[in-house]
Amino acid sequence: MYRTHTCGELRLANAGQKVTLAGWVQRVRKMGGMSFIDLRDRYGITQIVIDESASKELNEQVEKLGREYVIQVTGTVLERQSRNSRIDTGDIEVRLESLNVLNAAATPPFTIEDESDGGDDLRMKYRYLDLRRNPLKKNLMLRHRMAHEVRNYLDSKGFMEIETPYLIKSTPEGARDFVVPSRMNPGQFYALPQSPQQQKQLLMVAGYDRYFQIVRCFRDEDLRADRQPEFTQIDCEMSFVERDDVLETFEGMIKTLFHNVLGKDFTEPFYRMPYSEAMDSYGSDKPDIRFGMKLHEITSLAKGHNFPVFDSAEYVGGIAVPGCAGYSRKQTDELTEWVKRPQIGAKGLVYIKCNEDGTFKSSADKFLTPDDLAAMAAAVEAQKGDLILILAGARNKMRTALGSLRIEMGNRLGLRDPKVFAPLWVVDFPLLEWDDETSRFYAMHHPFTAPKPEHLEWFYSDRKEDLERVCANAYDFVLNGTEVGGGSIRIHDSRIQERMFEVLGFSHEDADYRFGFLINAFKYGAPPHGGIAFGFDRFCALFGGQESIRDFIAFPKNNQGRDMMLDAPSRIDQAQMDELFLQSTYKEEK
Ligand code: AMO
Repeated sequence: MYRTHTCGELRLANAGQKVTLAGWVQRVRKMGGMSFIDLRDRYGITQIVIDESASKELNEQVEKLGREYVIQVTGTVLERQSRNSRIDTGDIEVRLESLNVLNAAATPPFTIEDESDGGDDLRMKYRYLDLRRNPLKKNLMLRHRMAHEVRNYLDSKGFMEIETPYLIKSTPEGARDFVVPSRMNPGQFYALPQSPQQQKQLLMVAGYDRYFQIVRCFRDEDLRADRQPEFTQIDCEMSFVERDDVLETFEGMIKTLFHNVLGKDFTEPFYRMPYSEAMDSYGSDKPDIRFGMKLHEITSLAKGHNFPVFDSAEYVGGIAVPGCAGYSRKQTDELTEWVKRPQIGAKGLVYIKCNEDGTFKSSADKFLTPDDLAAMAAAVEAQKGDLILILAGARNKMRTALGSLRIEMGNRLGLRDPKVFAPLWVVDFPLLEWDDETSRFYAMHHPFTAPKPEHLEWFYSDRKEDLERVCANAYDFVLNGTEVGGGSIRIHDSRIQERMFEVLGFSHEDADYRFGFLINAFKYGAPPHGGIAFGFDRFCALFGGQESIRDFIAFPKNNQGRDMMLDAPSRIDQAQMDELFLQSTYKEEK
């Protein structure tokens, strides 16, 4: 046996016992005639002491140790003179009696401690070393725990975990597919699944009425802090259900996770916010409701004061930022530059300072009387001391821009505490999204999402305005401003599905080529069904109090989609290319 205990296990009750530990040398310190080794493994750190009683040979052996050497030590557990309350084993130390070097180690390229001196790229390259650090260990432990709780909960509700294939057919609708050439079928390609959407619907046709899978999904899209090209979903589908059955089942799962993992209880049902309210009041379909600062439309109040910026705008809206009336010119100028950045897209920013003495000061003072300003302040529910920020322009664009500004101000004012959790459902999404560029409708969720039954009349109308009004029987789960899950009740009636393809501009052949297997399967008795998928990486990151999902994944990709450790993607050799009948037209930049 290599060890009798782990490095996180020994306590005062073990004092006097002879133990053997194995692990990595975090560091060796010398103090007077004594030496100390911090010995680390997955479970913690134990202090090993080499006192004056140690033999010369033992001292020489310790002298030769370097960082990250893998060693085995045997000794006696002693009560520590000066206790260390920061580590679980801080009450004891082990007096070294024999030492066995299991493996020497090269000097690591960065320090493997809670605070590392390694840059992002370096730590990604040596991910296996980074993973030895506590913060990452804690994240992966949390991830393991959450997966375990999810499986327990869903199993207890009768869900079956069923695996679905990774090599499937490319049906691009949404993100780009990653494709895999087939050697046995020259010139043809598989796609990696963006999600097992069609497979899980086929499982419903097959009668497995409660399915789930913790499954890897692949999407070739631009990366952000909360996006990876391969990520994990908790993917679920249920038959013979309506929307509320799905929401209640998964609200139960979420509450169980909160309770069992974080010890947090939500006794009230999660708020179900219509999409229209989310956009009107938060300028986002994933509102962060940890704080107020809601958007208020003031278009009618703003017009008619000979202020061209307001008079020409389709929408004027504002937010009241608490306690910021004292902002300096420099600060408001900086905010103006912030909203003018291309990713926000506002032309400018109008502000109103609501002074403590009840007076107002605005960047549009020239056009607006104190009464106008007071009316606007009342409309955006501003208090004395608040700074009102106003954007004007096209409705959708400005609501989104104001929503981003709200989040930015929330960050600046420290209103987005990662330890506070504000979950909600967003419901009643539009079914369709018009795209000016291609002049066609796209499915906002996916083409199998059912319209709300009460909107079927509009769904069969040929007028664009009617089609735009159709709500989908779809829902998102939102936590602290992040979309963690999304799903819908599916279309199981082939006539509605055909109409959907027609609205999306797919010809019969087109629909048949992309989704023929599903359309065909539905002819053989499809039950009413619906489901949801949660972004598991996002769920874990939020539970861990972070926005970036990268450190909740053992081996993630960087922002260019590269695995820095494997140096992938990489070229393949000519023989492999030939075997697959592939030829690259890419010309390397000199
Ligand atoms: P959707 O596309 O909304 O739905 O995806 C579900 C959830 O997956 C997470 N997610 C991601 N996480 C990390 N990196 C990414 N690139 C990424 N893309 C998505 C999000 C999102 O809410 N088949 C449908 C679900 C259904 O209808 O049942 C689907 O995949 O948290």
